[in-house]
Amino acid sequence: MCGIVGYTGKQKAAPFILEGLKRLEYRGYDSAGVAVQEKGGLKLAKKTGRVANLEQEAAKHRLTGTCGIGHTRWATHGGVTDANAHPHVSSDGQIAVVHNGVIENFDSIKKFLLGKGFTFRSETDTEALGNLIAYHYAKEPAANGESRLLNSVRKTLRHVEGTYGIVVLSIDSPGELVCARRGSPLILGLGEGENLVASDVSAIVSRTQSVVYLKDGELARLTPVDFAISTVNEGEIEPVIDQITWSIDAADLGTHTHYMEKEIFEQPAALENAMRGRFSEDGSTAQFGGLNLTPAEFRQVDRFMFCACGTAWHACLVTEHLIERFARVPVEVDYASEFRYRNAPLHPHTLFFVISQSGETIDTLAALREAKRKGYRALAINNVVGSSIAREADGGIYQHVGPEIGVASTKAFTSQLLLGAMMALYIGRMRDMSFSDGLNYVQALKGAPDLVRRVLTQAGHIKAVAARYAGYNDMLFLGRLSLFPIALEGALKLKEISYIHAAGYPAAEMKHGPIAMISERCPSVFFVTKGEMFSKVISSMQEVKARHGRIIAIATEGLELPAGLCDELITIPDCHEAVLPIVATIPVQLLSYYIALERGCDVDKPRNLAKSVTVE
Ligand code: G6P
Repeated sequence: MCGIVGYTGKQKAAPFILEGLKRLEYRGYDSAGVAVQEKGGLKLAKKTGRVANLEQEAAKHRLTGTCGIGHTRWATHGGVTDANAHPHVSSDGQIAVVHNGVIENFDSIKKFLLGKGFTFRSETDTEALGNLIAYHYAKEPAANGESRLLNSVRKTLRHVEGTYGIVVLSIDSPGELVCARRGSPLILGLGEGENLVASDVSAIVSRTQSVVYLKDGELARLTPVDFAISTVNEGEIEPVIDQITWSIDAADLGTHTHYMEKEIFEQPAALENAMRGRFSEDGSTAQFGGLNLTPAEFRQVDRFMFCACGTAWHACLVTEHLIERFARVPVEVDYASEFRYRNAPLHPHTLFFVISQSGETIDTLAALREAKRKGYRALAINNVVGSSIAREADGGIYQHVGPEIGVASTKAFTSQLLLGAMMALYIGRMRDMSFSDGLNYVQALKGAPDLVRRVLTQAGHIKAVAARYAGYNDMLFLGRLSLFPIALEGALKLKEISYIHAAGYPAAEMKHGPIAMISERCPSVFFVTKGEMFSKVISSMQEVKARHGRIIAIATEGLELPAGLCDELITIPDCHEAVLPIVATIPVQLLSYYIALERGCDVDKPRNLAKSVTVE
């Protein structure tokens, strides 16, 4: 949520910052801005809309300076206007700041500063921050051997409540950037004769793979040739330098039109990466390197609690089903945003899990902290290496699917489903699952990438189906057992990117309310598979047909469906229960993608959404 880029070095800062902002646009895209130190002072360009608009605006300003900051915004305080776009410059013109997060006491800071003669041009909380830094900067001795900017930022942050990732520059301190984080990610990139900072590695990986993940409460001071880390209250601390293991190519579109399309088609490889090295030598169970729990400790767990938001919450629901089904251990699932406040009583031997692609979703992070505060061991399934959740969890499993850029989650989701299924296997094999059932399960999971490849070959057919349904305004998604969460996910995907109102239900629940929606104007997507639920789902489909509702069936290959029951048929291969949710997800991803294209929607950057939500 909101993207930040900063550069100090020998080259022009603006081109790198604009390039970085484009890579971060998925974090927020209602306005963008850049500020650069120039010989004559500070130059600023800001524009509502996409980074492409800012590029045109910036070209008019001839930005040639070698130190600057940029921001792409997802509005929290104040509407989407040029004035509210970042960077914000203090009213004395001294300080420019970009900020991600929310300053909760900005009102009282603003009142204080108004009394001191500072003025305000925007409705943002960030401007109060910039003015407060300028206030302290003016009082700071100009030359005492320490950084005047660093000291004034440090003093400011002692008075600030809320969350922030900030990068600050001053007009009279050439080449110096000061950054700080509390609750919003910031990563330093260490280059040759240049140093960088960004809210996400994808903005800096084209220049360097050496990074420092700033921790909450830390500040950093960057010059072209040096960097130092300290805390709000104390002096310098030793940095930990990490190496990014993926290259810029992983974040490029390649031959695809959209990131969402690319990421849907990457899923077979993503699943292979997520499972690599994670099966035991005897091939009968899963193994995970980073759980930081011995098998004996794991064996003591008699209840699991999973928390997440959005799509990742659907992955929790599938995982719940699989752990209860195959390991026979009770699982509870909660929205992270609810769990953090509802003070739920937890069973003493509960193992707490969060699932988060970004590892930065604030509600999920808060749920993790709440569980840890109560003394529970808290693990994470997470994609972004070095994220806040990855660092604060007691252990966990990385998804290893590379950067996911499309705002609507696809490959991250199916890899979460895979890792949830592997967790069910791991726990099941510690309990009552037999060796031969374990072998079958592992073989099934290993076959998942090929099954997904098979479903992807139907993309052309699904595109044709999508063309016939793009004109509807409502749609229902209905499935049973482990496919109920996939019905929820199908409805969410469709809503997110095509703005068609959609809802997911367990198929049998339809008759308790949603059936009132059914008419020729509200089609339904049904998951219908072999097994005990087959005839029940067919009955639900009959109820829809009797009310003139159109039906898109996503059905197991070779199933005999009553003649004329469905209007459209998309098939999925017959497969193991642990793999079924993964395979069944692919058609709903493609359906949503092609419907959104038909409707002319911006698939990768849907309105009002952001890839990772770092505010409450
Ligand atoms: C946002 C995104 C969703 C995502 C959710 C959780 O709302 O738009 O696509 O599922 O955050 O994100 P996380 O990074 O925690 O998985």
